[in-house]
Amino acid sequence: MSEAVLDLRDVTKTYNAGLPAEVRVLQGASLSVARGEVVALVAPSGAGKSTLLHIAGLLDLPDSGTVRIGGQDMGGLGDRRRTIARRRDVGFVYQFHHLLPEFSALENVVLPQLVNGASRKQAEQRARDLMGRVGVAPRADHRPAALSGGEQQRVAFCRALANGPRLLLADEPTGNLDPETSDTVFAALMDLVQGTGLSAVIATHNRDLAARMDRVLHLDQGQLAAR
Ligand SMILES: Nc1ncnc2c1ncn2[C@@H]1O[C@H](COP(=O)(O)OP(=O)(O)O)[C@@H](O)[C@H]1O
Ligand SMILES: [Mg+2]
Repeated sequence: MSEAVLDLRDVTKTYNAGLPAEVRVLQGASLSVARGEVVALVAPSGAGKSTLLHIAGLLDLPDSGTVRIGGQDMGGLGDRRRTIARRRDVGFVYQFHHLLPEFSALENVVLPQLVNGASRKQAEQRARDLMGRVGVAPRADHRPAALSGGEQQRVAFCRALANGPRLLLADEPTGNLDPETSDTVFAALMDLVQGTGLSAVIATHNRDLAARMDRVLHLDQGQLAAR
């Protein structure tokens, strides 16, 4: 059994296989992330960062190769069990927040917990605690559209962590923000993650941010390597 929280072995993914528009995105990507480790994923646009994170986060399936989370092979799971594993083990942050527009910031952090079986009281308490830690508690009752980009993204972090996942995956989480906001939002993310034992893979174009993580991996020609 692997000790790694996330372990990808020889993962391949091709879009439009066999067609003229075939794109071989992942060609034997392997990656192992230890408990508490924060890994930067750096590569140019189109290199396959989102594809890799979606496969690691059980949002998409590889063509071949294995995905293990907490030592468990996710490949053999049916849709239902994969959905449960994703909800329990993985927090996902997108470049654009993807918060539900018709709900308050607080509700956006509460809802995934209710789906996961928490009581409303527990869920609200945890949501307020997480939101307090990244400075968005005063915005709890506002809808996402009333928040700044940096606030929206901080709420999205809280939502990703709401169910206490063991793995956080973030796909260019500061990519939509101006450099100054990007810095403070990234610092908030690190505050939430570091010292909690949570493992994270964070895709970014920003080399300064990448350098602040435990390890930097590059995605090149469909494979991962330290460089
Ligand atoms: N659903 C899809 N169908 C066809 N091609 C796709 C699909 N998703 C991504 N691609 C292609 O795969 C490559 C990698 O995309 P992506 O993983 O989004 O890269 P990145 O996140 O690094 O910008 C790109 O060439 C993209 O156009
Ligand atoms: Mg992408």
